[in-house]
Amino acid sequence: MHFLVLGTSAGGGLPQWNCGCDNCRLARIPGSGLLPQTQSSIAVSVDGENWAILNASPDIRQQIGDNSQLHPKSLRHSPIRSVVVTNGDIDHIAGLLVLREKQAFGLFMTEALAAIIDDNPIFQALDPNFVERRTIALNAPFQLLPGLTAELFSVPGKVPLFLEGANPEIGVEGEQTIGIELTANGQRAYYIPGCAALTDKLADRIDGADLLLFDGTLFTDDEMLISGTGQKTGRRMGHMPIDGADGSLEALSALTIERKIYVHINNTNPIWRHGPERDTVRAAGFEVGHDGMEITLASDT
Ligand code: MLT
Ligand code: MN
Ligand code: ZN
Repeated sequence: MHFLVLGTSAGGGLPQWNCGCDNCRLARIPGSGLLPQTQSSIAVSVDGENWAILNASPDIRQQIGDNSQLHPKSLRHSPIRSVVVTNGDIDHIAGLLVLREKQAFGLFMTEALAAIIDDNPIFQALDPNFVERRTIALNAPFQLLPGLTAELFSVPGKVPLFLEGANPEIGVEGEQTIGIELTANGQRAYYIPGCAALTDKLADRIDGADLLLFDGTLFTDDEMLISGTGQKTGRRMGHMPIDGADGSLEALSALTIERKIYVHINNTNPIWRHGPERDTVRAAGFEVGHDGMEITLASDT
């Protein structure tokens, strides 16, 4: 399995258009050491020719441009054969509108996520004669690409921000927030860019994996409040923090996973910069993702 981290930032990107936090300021300065990062998406392939996109970010046009593996190989062509979305948030679905130029691909979603796309007429821009919407049941393996099996599973989350209403249930397990299991050639990988809590069930599932790409939105739960950039905690946004007694660093460190990489990292997160928080994450055996990162899992032979 080959992975390309297309976009490592959470919704808004790094820098975010209206943000003047330390990270966003540095990301606007060439040579500062902090490179801009696009929004949440990865690509996966087994044969290097056919690719699946996991989450269609608003930055997908730039992401395709930046990764030659995804360029057309003939007059009208795309190596992108499949697209899956892990929730209905704007950072994960808005890129579908970019993929509208009468190019065939399969769009794989749970029924609940398909309803969000179906209910919004702007997505009719994806011509059904070319884009096949495939509803996928949880915990049922399906063929995402030739030679690549995927399974969608529930992770604690919430409905998209734009559908929240007054009192959204946080941490609900259903079809609104999912993780993706990928298996090929004896290797097992997980992509979980949004997760409100690491339940025992989820820990059992991912234990023993060869690769985990996991929600690194905030380092501390109150990071946005403390930095003055927002009113919400990470938990209220449906994201467990990295740090703390019930953070992802401690919970995931108890598992046996070959490579653990944080993705979907908010622009306020101090792990973007060299410093104690990044050191803590790296000392615990985690990697901080970045746009353009490539990961290859060699086949078990
Ligand atoms: C999130 O991951 O919490 C969302 O991307 C928030 C948003 O849509 O701005
Ligand atoms: Mn997001
Ligand atoms: Zn910022």
